[in-house]
Amino acid sequence: MNRRQALRNLISLFGSAAFAQDRDVPLDEPVRVMDFAPLAKAKLDPVAWDYLDGGAEDEVSLADNRTAFNRIVIRPRALVDVHQIDLTVELLGQKLPYPILLDPAGGKNCFYPDGENVVARAAANARALHITNGGIEKLAQSGKGPVWWQLETGGSLKDRASMRALAKWLEGSGCSGICLSTDIAYVSHRDRDIRNQLERSWCETGLPKRDAEGRLPRAKNPERVGRYPSRTDPTPTWESLGELREASRLPVIVKGVLTHEDAERCVENGVAAIIVSNHGGRQLDHVGATIEALPEVVAAVRGRIPVMIDGGFRRGTDILKALALGACAVCIARPYLYGLAAFGQPGVERVIELLRTELALDMALAGVPNLAAIDRNLVRIRGES
Ligand SMILES: Cc1cc2nc3c(=O)[nH]c(=O)nc-3n(C[C@H](O)[C@H](O)[C@H](O)COP(=O)(O)O)c2cc1C
Repeated sequence: MNRRQALRNLISLFGSAAFAQDRDVPLDEPVRVMDFAPLAKAKLDPVAWDYLDGGAEDEVSLADNRTAFNRIVIRPRALVDVHQIDLTVELLGQKLPYPILLDPAGGKNCFYPDGENVVARAAANARALHITNGGIEKLAQSGKGPVWWQLETGGSLKDRASMRALAKWLEGSGCSGICLSTDIAYVSHRDRDIRNQLERSWCETGLPKRDAEGRLPRAKNPERVGRYPSRTDPTPTWESLGELREASRLPVIVKGVLTHEDAERCVENGVAAIIVSNHGGRQLDHVGATIEALPEVVAAVRGRIPVMIDGGFRRGTDILKALALGACAVCIARPYLYGLAAFGQPGVERVIELLRTELALDMALAGVPNLAAIDRNLVRIRGES
């Protein structure tokens, strides 16, 4: 074991994860989503943990996604009958039991054995809409939860024939939407992954075992500094988006919108829905919190298509604030990945349940018994009149 590895092990032993390593924590012990984070950290190799938890460059956007919620104040309503709370929402023709979706996330097999399929099963059990980039075949066979397939603007779009074939296959696979992520033309500079010499293919296969010295096998293609951006194929554009739309009857959802200009362009280009996202602070840094970008996107869209949001959602009140600012649903990634790493399928389901019940309770306390009762007046933004 090298010195750096030994030091990291020591830090994780004496850090917040220490209690989790001492004993088996029962599934019902975590009382909030963030209680799963130290449990996940204790279970994971530090390289996998950094990949899960980290962000781009100085991780400013990653931090902003959380702190920006503190600028938004809830204005609760008194004396409303809230003896029953209804979380149901209709999204692109599908009725969902609650407005919380599972975001696409690579690397699940690094966090838990067969993690991709484990999450797919958890989502189906919880009837959560799952945006996946793997594991869909088994899920389609089980015929259960709603699924959108996530395409990156890379590989699958560069070759039109394979893009058309994939789009057609998705139509017959039980998938009800195609989610196009627009912010991954290149992988960003992630200090933690570069220091760890993360091999990108490990995200698909799972991390290899460390040797007796505590070393991972040498990465063939490690994340590194000084990657000047260049690709052999052109990076995708609004034209490729148009081709994708033509190739399939499925609605296309665009993930990664942060400005009113792009929101307007999505509507003009026939996009079915938008996800306001900064990739969880993992791509371009200093783009601001997604909850800050939400109002301008909602204003540009003017109700013509649904707007969703992700980035830093950890509590019911976070979700309530986004719904008040005009989102119809929110998506989460790290929370369910923490649950996955800590407990496998039951952990993913428990995280969803915690968020869902917290949202219902917060709605009751705010005097809004259903999503239709939530409007812009339910919140004010500090410093704005
Ligand atoms: C480990 C990890 C892998 C991710 N992989 C993808 C991906 O393959 N495609 C994608 O569109 N977004 C990916 N994301 C971004 C999420 O879909 C989502 O936008 C973001 O993480 C939401 O913020 P949150 O993690 O704070 O909930 C990934 C996020 C994480 C944490």
